[in-house]
Amino acid sequence: MQHSLEIAYLGLEVPEPESLSAFFAEVIGLVPGEPAADGALTWRNDGAAQRVLVQPGAANDAVLVGLEATDLAAHAAAVERLGGAGFAVVAGSAEECGARRVEALARTTAPWGMTVEVVAGLERGATPYASPLVPGGFLTAGLGFGHVAIATMAYDESQRFLVEGMGFGRSDWLQMPMGPDFELDVSFFHCNGRHHTFAFVNAPFEFPQRLHHVMFEVNERDDVGAAFDRAWASGLPIPNGLGRHDNDHMFSFYVQSPAGFQVEVGHGARTVTDDWADDRRYDRISAWGHQPLRQG
Ligand SMILES: [Fe+2]
Repeated sequence: MQHSLEIAYLGLEVPEPESLSAFFAEVIGLVPGEPAADGALTWRNDGAAQRVLVQPGAANDAVLVGLEATDLAAHAAAVERLGGAGFAVVAGSAEECGARRVEALARTTAPWGMTVEVVAGLERGATPYASPLVPGGFLTAGLGFGHVAIATMAYDESQRFLVEGMGFGRSDWLQMPMGPDFELDVSFFHCNGRHHTFAFVNAPFEFPQRLHHVMFEVNERDDVGAAFDRAWASGLPIPNGLGRHDNDHMFSFYVQSPAGFQVEVGHGARTVTDDWADDRRYDRISAWGHQPLRQG
């Protein structure tokens, strides 16, 4: 699929960045990158220098999403498009580019309250990427590092930001009753072949964390199973055991990080094509599985 954007990195802010290190390294199987110029700890899931940044601070949430344009022309076009859709864009300084290890950076505040950095030229890591715990590696080429699911009361405006501001397409949406008074309402958006790079959950009130989960996709199905075993052994909550999603067909499970947000480890999702014609409503999250296993 022709594309000009990939999700480059996710920035987390927690009081003690090292409190997530054992989780990312030993449960998920990410590999440490070099600390960023601003002191953030960084994590890799492929050859890029950094895919997750963990900064010290009080938010205890994701605060930043980087979206990488495939070249400088695509970067300029993305910045112009955002401005044209009414979203104020600020050019990043040389220091900011250095901290993010990118060639170009422009920044805006997304309706869901996080900074979105539109970047180009994310550096490669100083050393080749290899994860001893994920021998098959992560699926990122042409797709970005994974996906994020965000709960927001600014549900409509967040969708407008992606579609009008960033040129994303909707893949499909989910509406299902959850109890007598609440209907779960989730929309899924793509900017390349990955079924969704963003999902928005329509929040009935502001949740303490806007980041519901971040997903990392592995190349080998057995690497999901091995990650599940590590998550089980860790004693961490497992809000959803192994299952397969109805819309993107992802085989996955969810483990709750020590900071509260969840991480989905998955394999085998279907991809979106240029002639995607399956933008429709789903009424169940999963075709099977994803049972609540161990609550926090
Ligand atoms: Fe997901």
